[in-house]
Amino acid sequence: MNIDKDIYILGIESSCDETAASVVKNGREILSNVVLSQIDIHKLYGGVVPEIASRNHVDVVDKIVKRALTEADIALKQIDAVAVTYGAGLVGALLVGVSYAKGLCQASGLPLIAVNHIEGHICANYLTYPELEPPYMCLLTSGGHTAVVKVLDYDKYDVLCSTVDDAVGEAFDKVARVLGLCYPGGPEIDKLACSGKPVYKFHSVVVSNGNFSYSGLKTAVINLVHNAEQKGESINKADVAASFNTVAVDGLIDRLRQETKANGLKTVAVAGGVGANSYLRRRMQEFEQEGYKVCMPKLSLCGDNAAMIASRGYYIYLQNEFADMTLNACPTLKLRGEKPH
Ligand code: KG4
Ligand code: ZN
Repeated sequence: MNIDKDIYILGIESSCDETAASVVKNGREILSNVVLSQIDIHKLYGGVVPEIASRNHVDVVDKIVKRALTEADIALKQIDAVAVTYGAGLVGALLVGVSYAKGLCQASGLPLIAVNHIEGHICANYLTYPELEPPYMCLLTSGGHTAVVKVLDYDKYDVLCSTVDDAVGEAFDKVARVLGLCYPGGPEIDKLACSGKPVYKFHSVVVSNGNFSYSGLKTAVINLVHNAEQKGESINKADVAASFNTVAVDGLIDRLRQETKANGLKTVAVAGGVGANSYLRRRMQEFEQEGYKVCMPKLSLCGDNAAMIASRGYYIYLQNEFADMTLNACPTLKLRGEKPH
């Protein structure tokens, strides 16, 4: 679509335990980005309780959307389209955002855009680097996905390798739990790892066909901790965290480097919650010394937010791809181009 005016997209995100709304101009400029996290509630249970997440989204979604419009200093009638996450995620949580967005579009006459949450994470890079354009290689690292993705165009992806079992973020959360750390475990492991040394040696997370496997690493850490407990030996948790963090990230960086070189790309990016990991961000910087452009979303855009959904929505808007009132939640939605193992 050829457009000669500014496009304002209202993004809505409710796939897990964050209720978020944002207004983004032309896919790149954040006018507001409101995120209400439910972490303090789910912490009490050691993880996200889907039923509680849905009920909390219902309570706050209207307030969060209105706040996003107010903070952007924009009226609903100036918005060009509403973009909402419809997958992947928790079905009940997704349905809250999807139903709200459908109601809003029905009442206002605005077009509705269905956004894949994972594709949204990739777009967090466009909000941090307004000059970034495909093609580039993206390391996708979230609580549900782990992959090296060749971003050929705004809506064309080639998934070159991915996890055959657990996602990297899931492994961080499970290892944190066995170490007695709070939910979500990723940031806790990250912090603890900074004061430890990677003295424990675990197998690489890269399996023979070039994909990732995190379940073996998770089990190895759990066995290490449980064996020590059974023998009454003390274990340095910071060293365990550093050892796990190192091997969990090194495999990702190795495969990202191999695929970037093999595909002759000059830019590497990262997306998803684990993209906030300090060791991963340090290792990403190595690519700069090797002559690559390195993109890492701002920390506030690594985790779940609606600005990335609005950005993704903008590129779908340009394609004239609108959803209708039959839009439903799709909890197992895959990235376009993702093949099953
Ligand atoms: O992308 P995200 O916010 O949600 C999903 O789409 O899954 O990712 C959440 C994951 C959680 O597993 C969380 O523990 C992890 O990202 N995470 C981190 C860090 N911050 C969040 N993992 C490692 N280090 C961090 N600093
Ligand atoms: Zn996410």
